[in-house]
Amino acid sequence: MRPTARLAALLFLASPAAVHAQSAPYAAPRHLHWGFEGPLGHFDMASVQRGYAVYAQVCSACHAMNALTYGDLAALGLTDEQVRQIAAGQRVPGGTDDQGRPVTRPATAADHFRAPFASPQAAAAANGGAVPPDQSRLALVYPGGPDRIYALLTGYGAQPPAGYRPSHPGAFYNPYAANAEISMPPPLHDGQVAFTDGTAATTAQEARDVTNFLAWAAYPHLAERHRLGVQVTLYLLFLAVLTFVLKRRIWSNVH
Ligand code: HEC
Repeated sequence: MRPTARLAALLFLASPAAVHAQSAPYAAPRHLHWGFEGPLGHFDMASVQRGYAVYAQVCSACHAMNALTYGDLAALGLTDEQVRQIAAGQRVPGGTDDQGRPVTRPATAADHFRAPFASPQAAAAANGGAVPPDQSRLALVYPGGPDRIYALLTGYGAQPPAGYRPSHPGAFYNPYAANAEISMPPPLHDGQVAFTDGTAATTAQEARDVTNFLAWAAYPHLAERHRLGVQVTLYLLFLAVLTFVLKRRIWSNVH
């Protein structure tokens, strides 16, 4: 390589654009307003409940959510009996029988969400070589966060650039996936889920609700933290006023 060409290559590699392309090879998602953002944010629990329905009816076929137990669903506003019924509808590994063969049993509130695949190898084999990531903390650890999860779920209809060919069978064009391609088939469609509260199940609504649910799961103590923050602030304000009044009193006869 000639020195000038080498210098040009170095300059290109060091340019901010090249760094950016390296760290974020996906389209920037649009920023949406999420109720849980900001210091006073809180979850829209009706949306989180619908989001659980989307997870249970769609995503759970491929994605595990191992950090959650069925008992955690009580915090969604479900009664103990509803939680028990949801758990009892799932069969989890239950040790072995007296011949040493693996058996299953109905889950209880103390069990973690049933994983759809027994191992990462089994998950990869069923998904064209790609492993669906565990969703317990996805909203927290996924680069781009909730905005990008929503954009990804609703981004399959985007027009690929002219001449685009999937790099392997089972790959889909999606501008919000890394390198604009993903091995997850479009999971959501209009009417995919039956919402019991009468909300129309459009793809956008399903995507918004499941993203709210994933955020709720990833930030389990958000509501408590915000409540505590407000209480601490009020307490400090009260102390400030008290200090001021005391100071005035103590110095009142010093002229
Ligand atoms: C048919 C199986 C299947 C279903 C159903 C499914 N996924 Fe996936 N998902 C996958 C696979 C496989 C991957 C890994 C894709 C890859 O690495 O290319 C994935 C990856 C993801 C990712 C990470 C994408 C990335 O950029 O790495 C997110 C976010 C996601 N899924 C969300 C969801 C949500 C939310 C649902 C339910 C609405 C859902 N998935 C339903 C199979 C599925």
